[in-house]
Amino acid sequence: MAKTGEDLFKNIVSHCKEYGFIFQSSEIYDGLAAVYDYGQYGSTLKNNIRDFWMRSMVQVNENIVGIDSAIFMHPTTWKASGHVDAFNDPLIDNKDSKKRYRADVLIEDHIAKIEGKIDKEVAKAAKRFGDSFDRDQFIATNTRVLEYHNKIIEIQNSMRTSLDSGDLEALRQLILDLEIVCPVSGSRNWTEVRQFNLMFSTQMGSVSEDSNTLYLRPETAQGIFVNFLNVQKTGRMKIPFGIAQTGKAFRNEIVARQFIFRMREFEQMEMQFFVKPGTELDWYQFWKDKRMAWHRALGFKAGKHRYHDHIKLAHYANAACDIEFEFPFGFKELEGIHSRTDFDLKAHEKYSGKKLQYFDPELNESYVPYVVETSIGLDRMFLAILSDAYAEEQLEDGSERVVLNLPAFLSPVKVAVLPLIKKDGLPEKARELMDNLKYDHLCQYDEKDSIGKRYRRQDAIGTPFCITVDHQTLEDGTVTIRYRDNMNQERIASSNVNDIVKEKVSISKALQQL
Ligand code: GAP
Repeated sequence: MAKTGEDLFKNIVSHCKEYGFIFQSSEIYDGLAAVYDYGQYGSTLKNNIRDFWMRSMVQVNENIVGIDSAIFMHPTTWKASGHVDAFNDPLIDNKDSKKRYRADVLIEDHIAKIEGKIDKEVAKAAKRFGDSFDRDQFIATNTRVLEYHNKIIEIQNSMRTSLDSGDLEALRQLILDLEIVCPVSGSRNWTEVRQFNLMFSTQMGSVSEDSNTLYLRPETAQGIFVNFLNVQKTGRMKIPFGIAQTGKAFRNEIVARQFIFRMREFEQMEMQFFVKPGTELDWYQFWKDKRMAWHRALGFKAGKHRYHDHIKLAHYANAACDIEFEFPFGFKELEGIHSRTDFDLKAHEKYSGKKLQYFDPELNESYVPYVVETSIGLDRMFLAILSDAYAEEQLEDGSERVVLNLPAFLSPVKVAVLPLIKKDGLPEKARELMDNLKYDHLCQYDEKDSIGKRYRRQDAIGTPFCITVDHQTLEDGTVTIRYRDNMNQERIASSNVNDIVKEKVSISKALQQL
């Protein structure tokens, strides 16, 4: 039976390590929590995803350009953006275990337990009533389920109110009232709740003074905002236009779990789209649709994405939503789309004393543009693609294979060239073919073990095509091409291999489908 949830996730994580996709950072020193290294296949897959995102922004859209701004920025940037004062998590420590938790996460975990109770009631009733069971009606009418549901709403409301008003004492009281215990010590011996800023800081130069304190950027977006006029003027950009960039971001996440889903050092792919004030909500809808279409064009299984519209908006936004993906551990945020008004540019105008305005030749006037932002985590996108592609298959002959059904244009290795045996001139012929292919594609030559084992190795890293060179190749110049997804094999002229592979791994085809 196909694995799901935690079991599936565990297998995916070990597959990533076993096949050179992702390693724990500094593993020989027992690792560094929530920091990961991408191995030989992982880094190539990640590069391919980044490249595809960048091309779908700047190559396909004439009015979007790409930049690469520095990780270090003037410290006032983060004052203007609000990160110094408000990029905080509420933390609480357990005095017995000395473990630190995010107060809101402790409460959310408690809510998840109540949700688990609802699921149990539903499962019990489904068993009792069999085919005649109406789930929606049961949830809407069963007294116990309704009690649980109301409790959840009550907890959520009270947490929201405490967080929004910054009332940390009320947040702590909620934890006490709910009798939440430390998962490690089992005790309710909690400290006060404190706000903890998520930015990492470091010193520039040799003197350790406050004025030399720099932050490692917690988002790439601010590098775009501060370059808005540089790009607009030098690129002679007309509104509406976008600036895109990819790059590292750093957050001192306290609850860092679920592998590369929440990391302390990660990569973002962000695009700020500058528009005329008053048109921002139309552009917000445009980018909301466009980004969902981008995800779906990658061939994910149906029903894997959904929107989560934000009801409560941040003070700078007038519309916001997430695109959520169904990871093995449930639906979670993959990308955010935010209509950020003119908040950031105005704040940078205020703190820098420089005008950040666009002269609109049609209106013959200057204004601070409004911004619609699309922001996606590259590592989360990697995890979404990998977990959707990962399959443990039971084959007709009773054997099993683990395969990564990656979109061919994203696969790290595109073609494997395999001489059937290690003699009779087959390796030399295979090397010739390899030399023909390697300038166009990342190829792998493999002559070790049985052909079956070699196919499995390529399936496990998602190589879409294996080319086998055998004795017939020496006679008539044909080879076998084996397709990863259906394992079918065909005999083709070896002179056609490059054209066939080129057509199937073409990134331009993928871009045309957007
Ligand atoms: N500029 C807007 C911004 O940074 P965000 O919702 O904080 O918004 C955007 O982050 C995206 O970055 C998220 O949707 C997620 O994919 C990714 N992301 C955020 N924190 C992350 C973390 N700690 N580890 C991995 N990815 C993260």
